[in-house]
Amino acid sequence: MTSAALRSRAWKLLELVTTPLLPSDYLDLVSPLRAGADLRGRIEAVHPETADAATIVIRPGRGWRGHRAGQYIRIGIDVDGVRLWRAYSVTSPANRADGRITITVKAIPDGKVSNHLVRRAKPGTVIQLDQACGEFVLPETKPAKVLYLTAGSGITPAMGMLRDADLDDVVMVHSAPREEDVIFRNDLHDLVADEKLRLVELHTDTDGMLDVTRLHELVPDWAERETWACGPAGLLDAAEEHWAANGLADRLHTERFRPSVVVAGDGGEVTFSTTGKTVEADGATPLLDVGEDAGVLMPSGCRMGICFGCVTPLKAGAVRDLRTGEITEAEPGVLVQTCVSAAAGPCELER
Ligand SMILES: Cc1cc2nc3c(=O)[nH]c(=O)nc-3n(C[C@H](O)[C@H](O)[C@H](O)COP(=O)(O)OP(=O)(O)OC[C@H]3O[C@@H](n4cnc5c(N)ncnc54)[C@H](O)[C@@H]3O)c2cc1C
Ligand code: FES
Repeated sequence: MTSAALRSRAWKLLELVTTPLLPSDYLDLVSPLRAGADLRGRIEAVHPETADAATIVIRPGRGWRGHRAGQYIRIGIDVDGVRLWRAYSVTSPANRADGRITITVKAIPDGKVSNHLVRRAKPGTVIQLDQACGEFVLPETKPAKVLYLTAGSGITPAMGMLRDADLDDVVMVHSAPREEDVIFRNDLHDLVADEKLRLVELHTDTDGMLDVTRLHELVPDWAERETWACGPAGLLDAAEEHWAANGLADRLHTERFRPSVVVAGDGGEVTFSTTGKTVEADGATPLLDVGEDAGVLMPSGCRMGICFGCVTPLKAGAVRDLRTGEITEAEPGVLVQTCVSAAAGPCELER
């Protein structure tokens, strides 16, 4: 018998004697970042950025395939004993010498994961990771002129790109309520001092909100620039409208942290058949939130309809897609994305 066959037989034997836990479960306890394990990462440091934002330094395990600047990762972390998944843009450059990556998180009011990461996460914590994904990246051939149009935590993917690529001509228009709320403010001003960036910093508490239709006053050559925009829905909706009105829609790339909800309808009674819970839900709240609030263990990822990490069989009734208003009725084998679907009358989910 070859040594590989011997190893495989020994492994199978071990699996038998350790059932129901697998040997990999025991190995996770001692070597969570080893090759062959589900992808994990270890939090190695947490650096405050502002009063409510922090950069989390993560050492990914062996299976990590790297990222392109601007992409995001999904992380799974235990908060009060429940594993929750969220998406975060990578803010470190793709070629960081020590192999570590960073995400930068802004705590939002009542946010479970963001507050945990910003205020309570400790170095040494092991988290689950997914490979990086997303199309919000610079093209292989770098554009001659770039504009980053960002607000609040929407600066994160742009910072990943700024740190990654040395571009000849970059302008950033960034909005935050006050100077002290500007994430990465020192890094941005260092780039300005090195003449790598022209920065227009707007403090909306005193300057008011950016009126995208008057962008030419701040950036006269805005229309010549390939633009990457990330921020609240209001900014991105206005930008999409403005670029389209000027026949420039293909020059604008946007990244949304939340889905745009366009239609809400009547709700209904939602039954989670596996857990045996039934709750009343309105027609605007995603079934993912309805389930979590009822204490049902719901799988999730991006929470905005892009990763399909939340799909769940719809056993009875109907749900409405909050982005399009489309109704899906239960049929054998029908799966729904709970993060962007709400009850459209009584319905039953297999959770
Ligand atoms: C592709 C992608 C990249 C992202 N990158 C980043 C990033 O780099 N940094 C970062 O801080 N966040 C980022 N996010 C948002 C992040 O995934 C979470 O949505 C956010 O941290 C809130 O999670 P939570 O568990 O704290 O809030 P939850 O407990 O899920 O929600 C609490 C309340 O806040 C509302 N809410 C949820 N998300 C948001 C939001 N983004 N803005 C305002 N209100 C919200 C909910 O409706 C709920 O009422 C990204 C999201 C996506 C899809
Ligand atoms: S959680 Fe990503 S599609 Fe629903």
